[in-house]
Amino acid sequence: MSNAPKDSSSANAMWGGRFASGPDAIMTAINASIGFDQRLYAQDIAGSRAHAAMLAATGILTSSDAEAIGEGLLTVLSEIEAGNFAFSTALEDIHMNVESRLKEIIGEPAGRLHTARSRNDQVAVDFRLWVRAQCDAAIDGLSALMKAFLAQAEAGADWVMPGFTHLQTAQPVTWGHHMLAYVEMLGRDRSRFQDARRRMNESPLGAAALAGTSFPIDRHMTAKALGFDRPTANSLDSVSDRDFALEFLAASSICAMHLSRFAEELVIWSSAQFRFVRLSDKWTTGSSIMPQKKNPDAAELLRAKLGRILGATVALFTVMKGLALTYSKDMQEDKEQVFDAADTLMLALAAMTGMVSDMTANRDVLAASAASGFSTATDLADWLVRALNLPFREAHHVTGTLVAMAEGKGCDLPELSITEMKSVHDGITQEVYSVLGVENSVRSRTSYGGTSPVRVAEQIARWKSALN
Ligand code: ARG
Repeated sequence: MSNAPKDSSSANAMWGGRFASGPDAIMTAINASIGFDQRLYAQDIAGSRAHAAMLAATGILTSSDAEAIGEGLLTVLSEIEAGNFAFSTALEDIHMNVESRLKEIIGEPAGRLHTARSRNDQVAVDFRLWVRAQCDAAIDGLSALMKAFLAQAEAGADWVMPGFTHLQTAQPVTWGHHMLAYVEMLGRDRSRFQDARRRMNESPLGAAALAGTSFPIDRHMTAKALGFDRPTANSLDSVSDRDFALEFLAASSICAMHLSRFAEELVIWSSAQFRFVRLSDKWTTGSSIMPQKKNPDAAELLRAKLGRILGATVALFTVMKGLALTYSKDMQEDKEQVFDAADTLMLALAAMTGMVSDMTANRDVLAASAASGFSTATDLADWLVRALNLPFREAHHVTGTLVAMAEGKGCDLPELSITEMKSVHDGITQEVYSVLGVENSVRSRTSYGGTSPVRVAEQIARWKSALN
């Protein structure tokens, strides 16, 4: 939709009073942001409408001028939404494109809109409104994903599976417990977006260029009209602050890191060697040469998306680092990073939600795998401590000897005979076999936050009420 730059020999109509000539074509190319900041059109128009209404309420503009401005801005809005707006690179950015079109529509009053305002507070308010809406979208997306994990947890609350450390079999855990680990992680992500939203919800509009204004404006009125809790308290900070964007990117990065961890588990779990889960056809692809293949492409892409989001985060930190107060044009480099990170995050959340909802856990495979790899060795050591009063270090050693014995025989711990057990420690009795089964193992882990089905059921109930 973008136009070729207008004649560069003439000075800019919005600020060209002291300029004899227009910018070089390459200057226009590096300076213009309309190619990307047109995405802020709705926020820009909402900000301008609030500003115009306030200018009338405070007597700075006549109500007929303010009404013409408000109506004209709605016309501009509908033109943009209908795709009938010719964006001009010569007009640099969304702010001047909208104002210039307003002038074409309503004439002279359009020139009064910029009273007691600067593009510096204008872009700050537009971008805050945009990022705030993305926080809301992230919060909604995370809630949906948490519900998908919770449904998985509920369906297999007490199914046993191997728990890993170092990706080596550690102790049996429950499927419900593993799914709820992600609900916890995503719950923290959600609260990070909620916190960031709360902190960013102050209006910079009315800070003007940097120092405030001599016009008797009402910043509380515009703040309220735009859904902010209050106006920002320092005009210099208002136009130079991009913390809200950095916080959004930081929260997005942590969230995308979480998604990458489950994505990796899905890649491993859906392999023929593991078969812990079956991904639905909707989230996998085939190979053009190997007919048996079902590739977890969505999971692999989700594992990768953090690269882009973290890249955007590092980019904006680097733009902001060392900038003297207040606004500098460096800050125009904030938007593309945040736009791309937000688009990436929303797509990632939606894809993960679909994949988690559609995946099927292989209960039998999980159970068989839970029992392999001497996963109840810790239960055996704990039993030696409890039943025979051995110090834990000695119990650990006895258990290690038994594991080596089983490994040598090519069997699992419960398959060792009582005579074999007694040859390592003669205090061992028949009772030991009750702790070697995986079901008993997970049932015994009843400490708060533990994997026992009783504890998992409590956490499911807590999250169900929190999410509904
Ligand atoms: N396009 C600019 C940006 O995105 C708007 C603010 C320009 N302000 C200025 N003083 N040149 O940052």
